Amino acid sequence: MNTVIVGTQWGDEGKGKIIDILSQKVDYIVRYQGGNNAGHTVVVGKKEYIFHLIPSGILHPGKICCIGNGVVIDPEVLLHELADLRKNGVDFSKRFKISSLAHLIMPYHKNLDQLRETKRKNKIGTTGRGIGPCYADKINRCGIRMIDLLNPDIFREKLKDNLKEKNEIFRKVYQHPGFSFEKIYRQYLDYGNLFGAYISNTALLLNKAIENKKDILLEGAQGTFLDIDFGTYPFVTSSSATSGGACIGTGISPVKIDKVVGVCKAYTTRVGEGPFPTEFAREFGEFMRDKGNEFGATTGRPRRCGWFDAVMCQESVMLNGIAELAIMKIDVLDGLKKIKICTAYKYKGKIFKEFPHDFEVLSKAIPVYKEMAGWPHQDNKPSSFKELHPNARIYLAQLQSLLKAKITMVSVGQARKDTIMI
Ligand code: IMP
Repeated sequence: MNTVIVGTQWGDEGKGKIIDILSQKVDYIVRYQGGNNAGHTVVVGKKEYIFHLIPSGILHPGKICCIGNGVVIDPEVLLHELADLRKNGVDFSKRFKISSLAHLIMPYHKNLDQLRETKRKNKIGTTGRGIGPCYADKINRCGIRMIDLLNPDIFREKLKDNLKEKNEIFRKVYQHPGFSFEKIYRQYLDYGNLFGAYISNTALLLNKAIENKKDILLEGAQGTFLDIDFGTYPFVTSSSATSGGACIGTGISPVKIDKVVGVCKAYTTRVGEGPFPTEFAREFGEFMRDKGNEFGATTGRPRRCGWFDAVMCQESVMLNGIAELAIMKIDVLDGLKKIKICTAYKYKGKIFKEFPHDFEVLSKAIPVYKEMAGWPHQDNKPSSFKELHPNARIYLAQLQSLLKAKITMVSVGQARKDTIMI
């Protein structure tokens, strides 16, 4: 069984926890897009691991973990994650693989990301990690890939070519001194030596695994509305976060995908700029942010919070082909008197039941809410669907009927055990 995990909102839905749970049942775990703009925390015993690139499945002995060709890799960050695993005695030498086709984030990508952002009138609020400029080079056909680090001659030519153009842009447009060829060349060849043992044709590896009836989990980063095509453009990331990206980013054909699981927070959050129709007013937003500990795992930035937006999530179910849903952090809604679900948008007297592409509508739309009764704080964490407060069950039933996908998991807390399987 080959399963894709996608975020249905603006990222930070809690995919990390679901991936951790589902990893136990598969043989291979593959990350398919994004870079170290993503991040999730996994707690094992007393040790806390923060992963930005390596699939957290690496903590499960025997599982093979791949970084797919669709991912952009900052080698320094990868090195740190590997060192952390080594330090904690996690043996990954035979079960960690990096696609030879994955693109590398270069020092100039990071600077360009930050400099561009300071110059923009309408800021995107990027993570500043060089993600956009790296993907731009990939599409521009001047990117540098993992495989290039294993061939010093090819790498030299590519880097020279890049620096010739980029240094000029840095100096003339951004009054920045530019970058030294020698320093980057040496540093990245060193990375090549360190990563050499893990670099391989992961598409081949995964397709052979499918032939041998192995189970694969394809892990997306960010969320549907940060997708470069279907997200709230231009306030998006630069890769395909939707389920289609899983095929492009791994080399697994669409006909080999068996199931797509969507991960949804029981409310909505967003980091960075861009439209957010159901965003809470300031005071309640701050209250909910603290209640849900809504601060970015990568940048620590506070997340904007709002009510559950069914218009958005219906679009997500359609775009991704979601059959099953995991509803996360429902416990954060405990103790609220009233809970709202957005079922349509209203703009200039017109009702929108489908997600609008018109930026003006999306930015100025007034949400049409279905109001529901809340439920009190649960002293004991419910461990089955039956143990959830009746009003929480009604809320979930309402989500399921609006989204027309089966809710199979409900998360009621941080720990692995605080997950209700339905
Ligand atoms: P970039 O991916 O750094 O270019 O940032 C583009 C937009 O995507 C910004 O609004 C970021 O806050 C957002 N973003 C990128 N990665 C994540 C993530 O993992 N979770 C939530 N938002 C993200």
